Amino acid sequence: MTSADPAEPADGELFRMRQWSPDSWRALPAQQQPDWPDADALDAALSTLRDVPPLVFAGEARSLTEALGAVTEQRGFVLQAGDCAESFDAFSANAIRDKLKVILQMAVVLTYGSGVPTVKIGRIAGQFAKPRSAPTETRDGIELPSFRGDMVNDFAFSADARRPDPQRLVQAYHQAASTLNLLRAFAKGGFADLARVHAWNLEYVDASPEGRRYDALAAEIDRALRFMAACGIDLNAEHQLHQVDFYTSHEALLLGYEESLTRRDSLTDDWYDCSAHLLWVGERTRQLGGAHIEFLSGIDNPVGVKLGPSATPEDVVALCERLDPTRKPGRLVLVSRMGADTIAEALPPLLRAVKLTGHPVVWMCDPMHGNTFQHASGYKTRDFEHVMRELHGFFTACDDAGVWPGGVHIELTGENVTECLGGSDEVLGDQLEQRYETSCDPRLNARQSLDLAFRVAELLRR
Ligand code: PEP
Ligand code: CO
Repeated sequence: MTSADPAEPADGELFRMRQWSPDSWRALPAQQQPDWPDADALDAALSTLRDVPPLVFAGEARSLTEALGAVTEQRGFVLQAGDCAESFDAFSANAIRDKLKVILQMAVVLTYGSGVPTVKIGRIAGQFAKPRSAPTETRDGIELPSFRGDMVNDFAFSADARRPDPQRLVQAYHQAASTLNLLRAFAKGGFADLARVHAWNLEYVDASPEGRRYDALAAEIDRALRFMAACGIDLNAEHQLHQVDFYTSHEALLLGYEESLTRRDSLTDDWYDCSAHLLWVGERTRQLGGAHIEFLSGIDNPVGVKLGPSATPEDVVALCERLDPTRKPGRLVLVSRMGADTIAEALPPLLRAVKLTGHPVVWMCDPMHGNTFQHASGYKTRDFEHVMRELHGFFTACDDAGVWPGGVHIELTGENVTECLGGSDEVLGDQLEQRYETSCDPRLNARQSLDLAFRVAELLRR
């Protein structure tokens, strides 16, 4: 991703002068696309997706841009969280509800602790496709295509299961639609009412130290609400107390899917990718001259880019110019994912370079993807202390650069899994096998997530 990258344009101007369309990415190199074996079947699936209703609406994406714009002015903090990869098998109302509960709890902890509103964005309702480090996987001498997420193929290690099947794109859309339907009901239908703040505690969290700390905070909120009512404020009339704005996001990896769900807004004539409110491109697909950045450059949703240790200040400034030429606050989110040992060195030059340009970006920290390692037991895991160390590094780097630490990007689940080590109710190495259920990267469980929220709130107060 340096200027020597063959995929990078000799002249960035070239791109500004080209006409963007939902399919203009097709003329450029696209990393991480599956080898679909049947082109006609792929066309049929994409054609189906061009005719389905949008999942989100342009006006909602604009509301998110506005909320993120407030974050660039230090009037908000973003919590973006959810599975590494959603799965077709682990799809249930309870799992969605419990994930939302954890996110609502974390948001309350962050808002109460920091005094700024929390913008809530799920990695959900579309987070089905995964970039891989190698296109194939070999076991016992047998080489098969890598698992690229349920939207592409199946995890089981057989030729049949691993063959990319475009009908999975359609199935992912339908699962995203029903997930979103439930999320909308929860967010607006009473479940997210602040009066129910106690009810979001999950059973297995209740008795833990974080659970008790949360209950104490919830009791303070109750008291504050009773106080306001006693002062004569009509709490029923304050709709912000009774519902939340909950936004969706996923990695815009499979560009055919994203293109098919991209629609022109009848109000503004602008293009929106209606598969989610916010789309991001990952560390492996952020080439300036590549198809993914081309696609993001033309949609009007808020967009994000993950930045790993190889990102140079020049890369990042060029990404800002390419993705946010009009310097709209809230349009662009930069997500640092450097690793706990690397962030102190790698992030400050990027913060300084972007600050000098004046682009009003939201800086976020993903403390997960730079801290994954293989445990001796064979499980891919993350250590809670490494995650916290990277978050400390992020807040320190932002502080030093005079940049607002705009948010955190977390992989978590509401289930009582044992996928990440540590936390105050510590998960130990020999416990990883007990409930290791992720279909991709290891996620924090609800206790670890709450713990993280309390600690981030402290960092925000600092
Ligand atoms: C992810 O968010 O799951 C991911 C693959 O991240 P990154 O692109 O930062 O590696
Ligand atoms: Co991941």
